Amino acid sequence: MSPPQSFEEDLAFSKTLHNHETEHGGLVAKITSKDKEAFENVVNNYMKYWVDGDPMTESEESKEARRSNYTNMTNSYYNIATDFYEYGWGESFHFCRFYPGENFYQAIARHEHYLAMQLNIKSGMKVLDVGCGVGGPAREICQFTGAHITGVNNNDYQISRATRSAAKVGLQDKTRFIKGNFMEMPFEDNSFDAVYAIEATCHAPKLEGVYGEVFRVLKPGGTFAFYEWCVTDKYDPNDPEHRRIIRGIEYADGIPELFKTSVALQSLKNVGFEVISAEDLALNDDTISWYYPLEGDIGNAQCLWDYFTVFRMTHVGKFCTRSLIGGLEFVGIAPTGSSQTQAVLETAGDCLVEGGRLGIFTPISLVVVLAGIAVYSFIGAGVVMNRRFSKHKENVTRQELRKFSRENSNNLTTDDKKS
Ligand SMILES: C[S@@+](CC[C@H](N)C(=O)[O-])C[C@H]1O[C@@H](n2cnc3c(N)ncnc32)[C@H](O)[C@@H]1O
Repeated sequence: MSPPQSFEEDLAFSKTLHNHETEHGGLVAKITSKDKEAFENVVNNYMKYWVDGDPMTESEESKEARRSNYTNMTNSYYNIATDFYEYGWGESFHFCRFYPGENFYQAIARHEHYLAMQLNIKSGMKVLDVGCGVGGPAREICQFTGAHITGVNNNDYQISRATRSAAKVGLQDKTRFIKGNFMEMPFEDNSFDAVYAIEATCHAPKLEGVYGEVFRVLKPGGTFAFYEWCVTDKYDPNDPEHRRIIRGIEYADGIPELFKTSVALQSLKNVGFEVISAEDLALNDDTISWYYPLEGDIGNAQCLWDYFTVFRMTHVGKFCTRSLIGGLEFVGIAPTGSSQTQAVLETAGDCLVEGGRLGIFTPISLVVVLAGIAVYSFIGAGVVMNRRFSKHKENVTRQELRKFSRENSNNLTTDDKKS
């Protein structure tokens, strides 16, 4: 079965690959229930975007292939990685700050509540979650605020899992999960009271594309808050070590290209947003770093369950998972490509830790708002106010914005426009 080329083919492919109707259980149950041929195809399809090994000498053609086929590339990545993410991290696919005495899942939830607070989300509001994953943050923010949350995501498997999980906890009327490309969102202009995104917009080949779409679907006066993955000013693209690490993050996390914080801020302004504040939350002097679980730093685990979570990322834990997956693949129970997927995710963990230690990368940048003043901070979260009286909005019509964001979908190939 070949990788999909349109929304319809994409859904059919996903149902074959994952079997959406089944309750899968843990990682082994999920991996062994995949359609073997489809899984192998999708792994090969993802790998074809990364054939040039050395990032310093990689051709412009290779980089352009990732940018112009971004939906196919990123969707392939999440088709192979989603089960491993859930196994290793849970149903919220993001980082956060950690406080001593607070367990892993409390910290993850607090990070989501903090974003909801930036947006001042209230019961009854209509809120959009851009790149919603399997819906962990949407469920949490829905329960926490009472707002109605719409999640948009271009991965059918994740949409199916998010919908099922929301129904399980009785949130089927307070949430909905819609298949869509955030560079061309399937919503009318002015549809949402507030919009947030958690570590998702970094998958855009060009930031104006996704930010422009958020601007379009947000009601005048609404707020957009998000955590962004960025390279920091410390990053030197001419330093081979820096380049290896950042390219490793791009490769192992399905990202066409990571941008500097300054590029993200300028892109927001270019589409008409007024940046109210921004902060790199990674720059707080936290005693526990955002990447500690990936280091397998068991000493920072705060409760018994944290030991299980962090243990999976220790050398021994990774060896156990590698051996299990490798063994299942060897005897033909798990599909070919399962071990390769595990190896990609190990690279992700290693490079994220290296990027974090050197301070050349942040997954948590935040923006806070004051009329007409831009103050930015980054551990990767952004809050942007789209105010009715913004001078940008007075001058830019909705039609112009739609045209602008379409143009900034970055020269999509025919395949990408179809999918
Ligand atoms: C790191 S995950 C974060 C998921 C979620 N925000 C969370 O915190 O659990 C990134 C998400 O962005 C989604 N995504 C990537 N590219 C997208 C696109 N072009 N349109 C819509 N969603 C996209 C992926 O499918 C994935 O669910």
